[in-house]
Amino acid sequence: MKILIVGNGGREHALGWSLHQDNRVTKLYFAPGNAGTARIGTNLKMSATDLDSITTWAETEQPDLTVVGPEAPLCIGLVDRIEALGLKAFGPNQEAAQLEGSKIFTKNLMNQAQIPTAQSVSFTEVEPALAYIARTELPLVVKADGLAAGKGVLICQTREEAEAAVQAIMTDRQFGDAGNQLLIEEFLDGQEASIHAVTDGTDLVFFSPSQDHKRIFDGDEGPNTGGMGAYAPTPAVDQELMDSVAETVFKPLLEAFRQSGITYKGVLYGGLMLTSKGPKVLEFNARFGDPETQVLLPLLETPLLDILLATVNHNLSSIDFKVKAQSAMTVVMASPGYPEKPKTGDVITGTDQVESENQFLFHAGTSGSPEAPVTSGGRVLSVTGIGITLHEAHDKAYDGIEKISFPDAQFRKDIGHRAL
Ligand code: AMP
Ligand code: GLY
Repeated sequence: MKILIVGNGGREHALGWSLHQDNRVTKLYFAPGNAGTARIGTNLKMSATDLDSITTWAETEQPDLTVVGPEAPLCIGLVDRIEALGLKAFGPNQEAAQLEGSKIFTKNLMNQAQIPTAQSVSFTEVEPALAYIARTELPLVVKADGLAAGKGVLICQTREEAEAAVQAIMTDRQFGDAGNQLLIEEFLDGQEASIHAVTDGTDLVFFSPSQDHKRIFDGDEGPNTGGMGAYAPTPAVDQELMDSVAETVFKPLLEAFRQSGITYKGVLYGGLMLTSKGPKVLEFNARFGDPETQVLLPLLETPLLDILLATVNHNLSSIDFKVKAQSAMTVVMASPGYPEKPKTGDVITGTDQVESENQFLFHAGTSGSPEAPVTSGGRVLSVTGIGITLHEAHDKAYDGIEKISFPDAQFRKDIGHRAL
């Protein structure tokens, strides 16, 4: 089989790494990929959001499956374009991808399905939003409705901060059209967990519950990033909680989609806050998490290809979904200056020292040849360790990180601290 993977992060390298081990896969392509994916497939010089170039390529090359990694191409309709060619694509179509593309769409869906989530009010104008802030309890969370590369959520401790957040989103349009509408919601307190499921629109399979570390510095300090490390399974979510989240969150969500006449297929990634009143949904993403994918896929026992094909063929109930009884941890190495102003163009050494049966290297912001990669983005790479215990996984991941270097690399020393 010939498979196209769209995207260029650690998530896409991990998807390719998993598919590359499957002897049914004869050829992998990445649009655009990175220095790591160049080792297992062919990188195409086209950006993940260049739908015209990708569909022109697909029409000629007829891949058996296209797997869309990031949210941006999903939200502008890449899956619709591939399917219009009569080809298979893993991921929701544009209408279904509003789950990630519009926080207000999703809030309405959750309220309709009575899914536990933060209480919120949506606004299309500045004045009513400011009036609401003046009479509402603090802290508050102000969110731009649309995609804002993870930056459109502002947690506000004071009314002045909340007013400034509304101005930044709607008046200054810091997130462009993503700020045409906004949500103001109650602040939820607790530990966060990510639950990844795959659905074909009818059935669901669940990956191990995981936890990401979004802040740049140890102790969860400093600005938010795309994610500096992750581990799974997290002891914060036991089987009983998983079962209850399946019943109270995921199944009602699928039912709400059905009632809206929308077929959702692909990943449902729920970001949950484990509050004292039970789990509540913070957000849904319409794709695999990055760096969560780098821990979820090494724990899979079922071949990833079976899961992807069963999803696009709408027969997910036919597969025997299994994950290993092991733990995984991934640690991200980032460029100096990330997340504000990453410095790039530095030579990376030691990548050839990593990789054994329980230690895996996933490239993200790298370019050049696989043998002599150069930094080209904020999050440069991550190393995943797996083991029987989380301690073993931790030691393997950090052992790999210690072998790799580039000038002023940043990485967190405390990934998994809540569980270890
Ligand atoms: P989101 O993109 O909605 O997941 O928001 C990004 C991050 O903001 C989450 O991972 C949380 O850490 C935080 N966050 C979002 N909504 C809330 C909320 N209602 N209460 C507390 N923290 C929140
Ligand atoms: N790791 C957070 C995300 O993928 O959204």
